[in-house]
Amino acid sequence: MKTKWLMTLSFLVGILASLLVPVLLMATGMIDVGADAKPGLIERTLAPWARDRSVAKRAPQEKNPQAGDPAAIATGFDHYRATCVMCHGAPDVPGAELSAGLNPPAPSLGDQGDDTPDGELFWVIKHGIRMTPMPAFGPTRNDREIWEIVAFIRHLPDLTAQERDALRAATDGKAHHG
Ligand code: HEC
Repeated sequence: MKTKWLMTLSFLVGILASLLVPVLLMATGMIDVGADAKPGLIERTLAPWARDRSVAKRAPQEKNPQAGDPAAIATGFDHYRATCVMCHGAPDVPGAELSAGLNPPAPSLGDQGDDTPDGELFWVIKHGIRMTPMPAFGPTRNDREIWEIVAFIRHLPDLTAQERDALRAATDGKAHHG
């Protein structure tokens, strides 16, 4: 009877200690919150995995209702130039200066052969990704506009020279996208 009680007690103490140790480490200020600090193991491995699982679970299953529509791609281009290219750049278009200091960095979008489903692009643009520089555009853009952006992302590998120049002009060209 007594050993059972002792076991329960040491189990509880163990749980408490494992909660307390990380809090004490945080209290010392040892976690470097600088955006230029190298991310730790959890941030590099577990966090991207949890993000992908979260997006896959929440993303709508539907296909882009505006896929391939030239008018949607043209409007999507305007949205992209105003709100995305500074961070994500485009093929042969570097992001703006601020893109060099993002942590995590902004990936290039719409690469040839990218099989990210339409719904996942839509969800990320609408809701953003917490604790990263990726903002939510749902507060300022309606669903139709977000699907137009998705339509334009699919067009990124086939930019015309004119579109590329217009995107380049929208960034200050000081940083290199990568
Ligand atoms: C302030 C910088 C910034 C802006 C502006 C921004 N993004 Fe992002 N975006 C990011 C970062 C950083 C990530 C990576 C987040 C991560 O690693 O989880 C990201 C991730 C994404 C992803 C997920 C890509 C993947 O491979 O997982 C998509 C899609 C995306 N952004 C689209 C857009 C679109 C479209 C716009 C404009 C409407 C936009 N972003 C505007 C910084 C930005």
